[in-house]
Amino acid sequence: MSSIFAKSYDFFMKPLEKKKFNQIRKELLANATGSVLELGSGTGVNFSFYKTAERVTAVEPNLHMIEQSIPKQKQSLVPIEVVRASAENLPFEADTFDTVVATLVFCTIPNPEKAILEMKRVCKPGGNILLFEHVKMKNRFLAALQELLTPVWKKICDGCSLNRKTIDLLEFYDITITKVKKYYSDLFVYIESVNKK
Ligand SMILES: C[S@@+](CC[C@H](N)C(=O)[O-])C[C@H]1O[C@@H](n2cnc3c(N)ncnc32)[C@H](O)[C@@H]1O
Repeated sequence: MSSIFAKSYDFFMKPLEKKKFNQIRKELLANATGSVLELGSGTGVNFSFYKTAERVTAVEPNLHMIEQSIPKQKQSLVPIEVVRASAENLPFEADTFDTVVATLVFCTIPNPEKAILEMKRVCKPGGNILLFEHVKMKNRFLAALQELLTPVWKKICDGCSLNRKTIDLLEFYDITITKVKKYYSDLFVYIESVNKK
């Protein structure tokens, strides 16, 4: 787990955040209500967008990322606790959270199937599951390029895969998708969904 990646993450993301992602995060996180769990909170980019939540529990396995997120945690409008844990093994009881949030995370989680099962377990029945992710594209040429680039990309970007089919996974695990928006063709997807149990 590299500290260079954690320290440079906000700098390299800044142009995209300013151009589009800030607006997407704002819209997505306006739906985060009650007790919220955020998976893979990284440098805490989402923290300033929580306005309607009662409290946020953020899990993040990388200590360097947690360190970078502390200033944003202190400035947040709602109470935020950051816990060092992985999405595949969440240290919480079943049906604990009203909302689960994951942004740009399912590309990096080593076992996304296990993480989805864990997310479903700790989210209350009927709870919101809010995601913003980059995924494998439909265009055959671009999808092939994503496959080709993934091994190198994973090394440069701390385990990030370009070829994850996150929408298919959610559907497979019976999560009810209520709204999808696509950006940069269909490279990035905004997803509002509901936990069916
Ligand atoms: C690309 S960063 C995204 C950070 C942030 N969520 C955002 O929107 O900018 C991916 C994050 O997922 C975290 N991560 C990696 N494996 C994970 C796992 N198994 N469970 C939870 N988070 C994980 C990484 O440490 C990193 O902070």
